[in-house]
Amino acid sequence: MKAFWWDGEKLLLLDQRKLPEKEEWVALGDHVQTALAIKDMLVRGAPAIGCVAAYGFLMGVRKGEESEKVYEILKNTRPTAYNLFYALDRMMKAHKEGDDLENTAKAIEEEDYQANRRMGEIGNKLIPENARIITHCNTGALATAGFGTALGVIRQAHYSGKSIFVWVDETRPYLQGSRLTAWELLKEGIPHRIITDSTVGFLMKKGLVDCVIVGADRITKRGDVANKIGTYTLSVLAKVHGIPFYVVAPSSTIDPKLERGEDIPIEERSEDEIKVFRNCQFAPKESPALHLAFDITPAENITAIITEKGIWKPV
Ligand code: MRU
Repeated sequence: MKAFWWDGEKLLLLDQRKLPEKEEWVALGDHVQTALAIKDMLVRGAPAIGCVAAYGFLMGVRKGEESEKVYEILKNTRPTAYNLFYALDRMMKAHKEGDDLENTAKAIEEEDYQANRRMGEIGNKLIPENARIITHCNTGALATAGFGTALGVIRQAHYSGKSIFVWVDETRPYLQGSRLTAWELLKEGIPHRIITDSTVGFLMKKGLVDCVIVGADRITKRGDVANKIGTYTLSVLAKVHGIPFYVVAPSSTIDPKLERGEDIPIEERSEDEIKVFRNCQFAPKESPALHLAFDITPAENITAIITEKGIWKPV
């Protein structure tokens, strides 16, 4: 399962806005098309955004565009996902040092895939037999170079023969959980059930949840985590109910310049994404809405962060 393919000249992208009904691929030929696809969320998930941006940079520079311009256009797409900046900085450095840009983009993709496999192995050790796991958003093959972060751990637990069950948070408003995570779990034959985001607390109270596993868009040096809106709520509920709360992300998601979560820029998206879904207006046009795409979970609420380098207990 892949969210994107590099064919040597163009980048093929699975349009995630159309899933699960349609599996439609679009071809991107330059950095401007790539930036638009990231902004409009044809591709999403921090690691996948980073990989796709790297290929976008390559296509822009190949076209003879000024590298600074290409960098800026791609950078100004999604402000929270740190992998975007990690990948673009690496591409820019490679460009300045005269390294091969195609090889660098391919290396970013391959390293992300390998990190996912490693995190799957490490994280699986924390998953008990018969675990009932809650996950939020989509952190699977669709959100990465393949396999997944939090969903990679779930995949690995399933592959290792453990009997597990997944509560899939719907994840309003883009529905990454119900549209994308459920789609991936179904393809893998992993038992799951979709819930609305607000069902979580009651399930925990009833003793139906053994652990929470989520991904990350950006992690600070002290271990504060930006992730899909609703993650903070999950972490508070997990803490109140004494349930382990795990974050799974590659080290390329860690921002070495930021100490505190409060300093992470939070993306605010269009109100329409909250009030309209696929041309259906289900809230009054005139009512204002607030669409914050991410929130911050403080390190204090996190049991452990799993990266490809090991298990990190921030506090
Ligand atoms: O807005 P999205 O869909 O890009 O948000 C994705 C998330 O919040 C994921 O949890 C995160 O990027 C990690 S994906 C491996």
